[in-house]
Amino acid sequence: MPSYAIIGASRGIGLEYVRQLASRYDTVVFAVVRNPAGSTHLNALAAGFKKVHIVPGDVVDYTSLEPAAKQVSAITGGKLNYLIHNAASTNVSTVYKGFDDYTNMEELDTEFISAYKINSLGPIHAITAFLPLLRASDTKKIVVIGSGASDPKSTQVRRLVAYSMTKAAALIAATKFAVKLADEGFVVVTICPGMVDCSATAGADSGALAASLKEMSSSMKSQTGIEVTPQTPEVSVAAQLKVIDGL
Ligand SMILES: NC(=O)c1ccc[n+]([C@@H]2O[C@H](COP(=O)([O-])OP(=O)(O)OC[C@H]3O[C@@H](n4cnc5c(N)ncnc54)[C@H](OP(=O)(O)O)[C@@H]3O)[C@@H](O)[C@H]2O)c1
Repeated sequence: MPSYAIIGASRGIGLEYVRQLASRYDTVVFAVVRNPAGSTHLNALAAGFKKVHIVPGDVVDYTSLEPAAKQVSAITGGKLNYLIHNAASTNVSTVYKGFDDYTNMEELDTEFISAYKINSLGPIHAITAFLPLLRASDTKKIVVIGSGASDPKSTQVRRLVAYSMTKAAALIAATKFAVKLADEGFVVVTICPGMVDCSATAGADSGALAASLKEMSSSMKSQTGIEVTPQTPEVSVAAQLKVIDGL
């Protein structure tokens, strides 16, 4: 029975991964979230699937991921086939900022350091905590959800500075793991989900997020010439899973 751990699965793309993987025959899905009680969409989904296990874990805090891996190990007999690292800092009130949108350098530093801890160190923490379980499986697949924002072409978009820089660091981290683990038969990739409208599960941020995505789409077009239309989490995750299934 293939086992999947989705890191950052309370809402948005991560939640949709849980939904689509749980809907498959013969899978077991671990939804790792930093706030299990507050993950209302996930709790509602998990109520319909015995094979979905909600596991507490904060990617900033490595000491919370070791017990998360232990909890998974106890259910799978020490193995994990797929790690899908999805968690990221996406707060709608800060994520779209450009350099000129911070009132002072202290505010910029605080935001960058917070984003770095989640977006750049987070994948390193999760991969390291789950590595013994992944090593014990015969699949050995690690997927870090990346972003077009870390593609040099999209640096022409003047905003999203902390997000773009810290997602670029995550891309490097994933690549370093790919190189380090290649001889052991691992496949480590990043996948860009495209622009995805996750406002339906964003709670109080729903309206602001939908408006920001619209505005981002038009900035992309005017600043880079690239035309991007937001897609649904269902469509994006189905396309991502096709890629993952083929790795
Ligand atoms: N949506 C897009 O257009 C788009 C485009 C390109 C790339 N991406 C990438 O796709 C992934 C998912 O994005 P999304 O749009 O689905 O975002 P989202 O709806 O805001 O979800 C972000 C998820 O990350 C979790 N998370 C944040 N900090 C965490 C931490 N410290 N520990 C554990 N979990 C944490 C959140 O949990 P809480 O509920 O606890 O906050 C939430 O489940 C991200 O890696 C993002 O960079 C998205």
